[in-house]
Amino acid sequence: MMAANGKKIWMDGRLVNFADANVHVLSHTLHYGVGMFEGIRAYPTPHGAAVFRLTEHVRRLVTSAKFYHMPIPYSPAQIEEAILQTQAANDVVPSYIRPLVYRGEPALGVKNIAGKVSLAIAAIPAKKYLGEGSEAGVRAKISPFRKPHSDSIPSFAKAAGNYINSYLAGVDALKEGYEEAILLDANGYLAEGTGENIFLVRDGKVYTPGLESDILLGVTRDSVIRIAEDLTFPVVQKLLSVNELLSADEAFFTGTYAEIAPIKVVGSYTIGAGTPGPITQKILTSFRRILHGEEPKFSSWLTPVPPLPRATVRPRN
Ligand SMILES: Cc1ncc(COP(=O)(O)O)c(C=O)c1O
Repeated sequence: MMAANGKKIWMDGRLVNFADANVHVLSHTLHYGVGMFEGIRAYPTPHGAAVFRLTEHVRRLVTSAKFYHMPIPYSPAQIEEAILQTQAANDVVPSYIRPLVYRGEPALGVKNIAGKVSLAIAAIPAKKYLGEGSEAGVRAKISPFRKPHSDSIPSFAKAAGNYINSYLAGVDALKEGYEEAILLDANGYLAEGTGENIFLVRDGKVYTPGLESDILLGVTRDSVIRIAEDLTFPVVQKLLSVNELLSADEAFFTGTYAEIAPIKVVGSYTIGAGTPGPITQKILTSFRRILHGEEPKFSSWLTPVPPLPRATVRPRN
C-alpha cells in the first residue's frame, strides 16, 4: 500500500492543497466504480525530472474514458500539460502520478451520462508496489479469483471498478503470506497480476500473454517488449498455461507501480533458481538506465518537467 501524501492536487484546472482535495460522498464514481485512472512515474535524470511515457499513459486514459462515455473536458495535450504542472508543483522524484477521471457531483443511479466529468491529478513520492526489496524477487500464488471476461468488463480500459477483482485476488495472496496474486483468465490461461503484467523466459525466449487473455495492455509491458527485442531476445505473445509458468526458467511482473519485479516462487514451486534470472536482469538493467535518461536511444520515452509558473489549463467547450 502507498500511503498518499503530497503538496498539491490538480483539480479541474486548480492546484489545491492536498488536504482540501475533496469530493462529495454521493459521487457516482465512489458508488459505482465508474472512474478512469492512470499510474505514471516521474524519475530524476541528468537534465531534471522527467515523466516516463507520458503520451502513452494519457492516450490510454482518454481511450478508457471515451469507452465509458466520460468525455474528458480537456484535450490530450492539455492533460499532459496538467500532469507536468502537477509534477512541478509537488517537486518530488521519483514520483507516482495518478490522474483520475471521475463524476464527483452528488448523483445516484447507475446510468449517469449527464453528470459533470472531472479530472484530478496527484503526484506523490513513489514507492514500489510489491515492496522495496521486490527487485530481488517476489513470492506469488495463482489466485482462486479469475479475471472477468472482457465481454463483461473490457480489460483494455483502466477503470476504477476493475480493481475490486484485483483487490480480492491481492488480499487473498497477502493473507496466505505471498506478495502477489497471479490471475488467470476465464479459460484458465495466465492473465496478469493485480496491478502488473506477467512475463516468462524459456530457452532464451521471452513470453507474455496477449489481449485475448483479458489483460491491461501495460505501458511497462510494451516498454519491456521493446527493450527485450533491442537486446535481441525474441518475444512471443501467446496464450500461456500455468504449467508453462511453473516450469519457466525465469518469470517477472511489469508495471508502472511495481516496475520490474522478478518472480521467485509461485505457490509451492520455485521459478528457475529462485533468484532473478540472467535475461530478467539484463532487461531490468536496461530499463533502469532508460528511466534515468541514460539511454539516448530511448530518450523519446521521457518528457522533461518544465518549471512553474505556466498558463492555467482551462476546459475546452
Ligand atoms: C491490472 C493491471 N495490469 C497491468 C498493469 C501494468 O500497466 P502499466 O505498465 O501501464 O503500469 C497495471 C498497472 O497499471 C494494472 O493495474
